[in-house]
Amino acid sequence: MSRKLRGEAKETGAGVPAADRAWGGRFAGGPAEIMQRINVSIDFDKRLYAQDIAGSLAHCAMLVRRKILTAEDGEAIARGLAHIRGEIEAGSFPFRAEHEDIHLNIEARLGELIGPAAGRLHTARSRNDQVATDFRLWVRDAIDRLERQIQGLQAALIAQAERHAGTIMPGFTHLQVAQPVTFGHHLLAYVEMLGRDRSRLADCRVRLNESPLGAAALAGTSFPIDRDMTAKALGFDRPAANSLDAVSDRDFALEFLAAAAIAGTHLSRFAEEVVIWTSEPYRFIRLSDAFTTGSSIMPQKRNPDAAELVRAKSGRLLGALAALLTVMKGLPLAYGKDMQEDKAPVFDAADTLELALAATAGMVGDLAPDAEAMHRVAASGFSTATDLADWLVRVLGLPFREAHRVAGALVARAEALGVGLAQLPLEEMQRLEPRITAAICDVLTVEKSVASRTSFGGTAPANVTAAAAAARRRFLQ
Ligand code: ARG
Repeated sequence: MSRKLRGEAKETGAGVPAADRAWGGRFAGGPAEIMQRINVSIDFDKRLYAQDIAGSLAHCAMLVRRKILTAEDGEAIARGLAHIRGEIEAGSFPFRAEHEDIHLNIEARLGELIGPAAGRLHTARSRNDQVATDFRLWVRDAIDRLERQIQGLQAALIAQAERHAGTIMPGFTHLQVAQPVTFGHHLLAYVEMLGRDRSRLADCRVRLNESPLGAAALAGTSFPIDRDMTAKALGFDRPAANSLDAVSDRDFALEFLAAAAIAGTHLSRFAEEVVIWTSEPYRFIRLSDAFTTGSSIMPQKRNPDAAELVRAKSGRLLGALAALLTVMKGLPLAYGKDMQEDKAPVFDAADTLELALAATAGMVGDLAPDAEAMHRVAASGFSTATDLADWLVRVLGLPFREAHRVAGALVARAEALGVGLAQLPLEEMQRLEPRITAAICDVLTVEKSVASRTSFGGTAPANVTAAAAAARRRFLQ
């Protein structure tokens, strides 16, 4: 949250009589202090101020156009709202807990600034369509920010992939050395995942982009409003078709949280790899001082805290999704105050994902692979056994299952002799399969292995260079 919004509305406002509140007409006594405390949302929903003012300006202009409001009142309201935006951005706006939320805080302040005309702004609208509109606009802005940020992370990954299109590393399954791959290829795997994360957010944006404004409390309104006009002014594609649905669903927030949780899961997998790769037994990559911390007792330590925190923060993202799903399940139509609990998880998820993306992009730019260490491990664990089996199929015409058996026996023999496959003497090989020739040595090095993986989407350095160029076109333009 930006500094200007940080000041907390400290007093609970419990002493303020109900009659002085926006909804106080039928009330005689004031709320209990605990009622006030559980009800108040201004400390977090003040983050909706810009969207709330934009929504009010659009509503006001429409009321004037439809002659529901005089031009004079409309101008006073618009001027007052612009002034309030200035106050909030300057940090001088008096947020007050007794006005509960951002909507009533702004309306109350408008009354102080322009007098009774302020009371006309709420004609033909309710806080229910107001908050649904504000929140959609906020999530839409968050999606736009996050999409750009994910794109930035893709750019960092692609740049490293280009640099390391031919850098050999072990590819793993079950975290056991499986087959040699290239580091660039591994990084481009994350570029694909992030591309899908972006498209999930973009999908969510398409569906959320309908305007609830004018649905009023739940039933629509008797005033001759123009919902198309307000929808257009706020950049929505159209007004939401059903007033009950418009004020009471939060599926757009759930979709956003689901997309954020999935993106966070991708980041956590990368972060986990960074943790593994920087550890002493691996030493595949090195992070500079900028992305590591020391230990207060062990002077030699370089801990990958940023990666660990990115790994952990995906837990918060998942928690936010679970929290809002739980709030929404079983809620009868239409609006219920339960829905006020939609904002905290969404704000937290957006902040968390933003931070995790920034830290990950920083680490990607910072990391330097140790090509020698990666190569050593890539060549260990009989990682070219599949290449050997493929040779037996290709050159000797063995069925793959038979070739797999022969290659397995050769691995066992090499293991017994304590050598790698490339070092296994030809006579040893021929003892198991007499038709093997010296030509087999051609496929047993890790370089030959990766170079041979030229199928579409494969790990060969030439493929990686082409795939990185394609990724630039697909994701960065
Ligand atoms: N602060 C409320 C929220 O976030 C605004 C809507 C209040 N509506 C109502 N009928 N009390 O949901």
